[in-house]
Amino acid sequence: MDKILGALNGVEFTIGDTLLELSYLIAALLFVVGLKLLSHPETARRGNLWAASGMGLAMVTTLLLHKDAAGNGIPLTNVWIIMAAIGVGAAIGWTIARKIKMTAMPQLVSFYNATGGAASALVALLEYPNALAGDVGSILVTVLGLIIGSIAFSGSMIAYGKLDGKVGDIMKPFITYINLVLLVVTLGLGAYIIFSPNPPAEMVWAIYALLGIALIYGVMFVMPIGGADMPVVISLLNSFTGIAAAMAGFIYNNQAMILGGILVGAAGMILTILMCKAMNRSLLNVIIGAFGGGGAALDKDQGTIKEITLSDAAVLLSYSQKIVVIPGYGLAVAQAQHIAHELDTLLEGKGVEVRYAIHPVAGRMPGHMNVLLAEADVPYEKLVEMDDINPDMPNVDVAIVVGANDVVNPAAYDDPSSPIYGMPIIDAHQAKNIIVMKRGMGKGYAGIENFLFFNDKTRMLFGNAKDSIQKLVSEIKNM
Ligand code: TAP
Repeated sequence: MDKILGALNGVEFTIGDTLLELSYLIAALLFVVGLKLLSHPETARRGNLWAASGMGLAMVTTLLLHKDAAGNGIPLTNVWIIMAAIGVGAAIGWTIARKIKMTAMPQLVSFYNATGGAASALVALLEYPNALAGDVGSILVTVLGLIIGSIAFSGSMIAYGKLDGKVGDIMKPFITYINLVLLVVTLGLGAYIIFSPNPPAEMVWAIYALLGIALIYGVMFVMPIGGADMPVVISLLNSFTGIAAAMAGFIYNNQAMILGGILVGAAGMILTILMCKAMNRSLLNVIIGAFGGGGAALDKDQGTIKEITLSDAAVLLSYSQKIVVIPGYGLAVAQAQHIAHELDTLLEGKGVEVRYAIHPVAGRMPGHMNVLLAEADVPYEKLVEMDDINPDMPNVDVAIVVGANDVVNPAAYDDPSSPIYGMPIIDAHQAKNIIVMKRGMGKGYAGIENFLFFNDKTRMLFGNAKDSIQKLVSEIKNM
């Protein structure tokens, strides 16, 4: 392994160095293939495995083949410590991932994202003295890694708290100004460190001050964002973690880390842009715009709530030609995906066409509804994206809204005071009949009223979605 193969720019490289670089290249390819496979529910599980094996390969080859500038490998004691840390981390990750409920997945993603940001920030902090001994480029990537990693950490922890209902919202507008000041101070201090000619000893205070301010900024940045805007913030923070990891990769001149970080950063940024488009908002508007609450209050003239009996619902569905099921967060809470599939199979047996309308931000994480329905083996062809189903909604005999609220709220079209005004929705209100399944008159994530429930064509089937569909299936079978 130590046989010298040649030299590049005066630096000799051995068989071990070449194998290490090759393994990084293979790891990068595995990441890319994994990401590609992740883009479809049918291949996503395999994609996860491919990307994880890429990461595993990079970790093993680094432990075995990495050498420092003096040509020494990683000391054996450190290898054991690292392996023990990997073992403990893997055991904790495995246990949490197996136990976690599907509805708590977004919180978990935020929490893991926070740990990625913290790791990158710690790398930057530890390597700061070495960076000072290097050129401006080394200090630049170290400072950027520290700032972005710290913001990703504290911001993701707040996002975790919000999604878990442990942290509330802080109202604006004054926070926007505080945040602006914090951002300017963070960037100013970062620039001071990068361009300051002072010796290391005098600069230690500055790096810790930068760490503290960046952490506070992360908290303050996410604090005022809430309601329907959370998905955008989560994917943005995910992108930050990727960029911070790439900076850590630059610090160590490690190609696998750089590539992995850039892939996560780019994927997170693309998702952020797609989420903004799905909500018809600009990123700036999400970060400093209005959120949560608001919207028109209930008005007595708005109409009345009408309920539907199970037998009426069973008749209506059985004698329809076209049905569209609109799933939302309540489907996940009730775990009603399996019974929903049983209902659609039953109806299709009676010659009814049943499709599922998928809103990009339905549920609490990107692709939430796709994952749930794939878990219940609903054929992928039955899932229709919002833009494709909406033009056909006026021809739909019954729209069944299962635990969805914000994603079918017509306030997005006709209430300029609503925080979701302008967000594209699934046009359930255009269907000939609407059945809404939910437990009561609870609001959705955005915390606003939904006048769809008062629409003349709407009838409510109150109860836990799983129980309601179960009873409906029995009723149809007994017809
Ligand atoms: P929501 O607007 O959150 O509404 C869910 C509805 O489900 C509630 O009104 C609730 O009413 C009902 N529900 C809860 N448990 C139920 C159960 N066991 N059985 C039947 N119904 C139940 O859901 P949505 O329409 O899917 O919209 C998603 C919202 O979350 C959007 O505002 C989105 O921006 C936001 N968000 C999305 C994400 C991602 S990435 N998808 C991440 C964070 C936030 P009851 O209490 O009356 O039953």
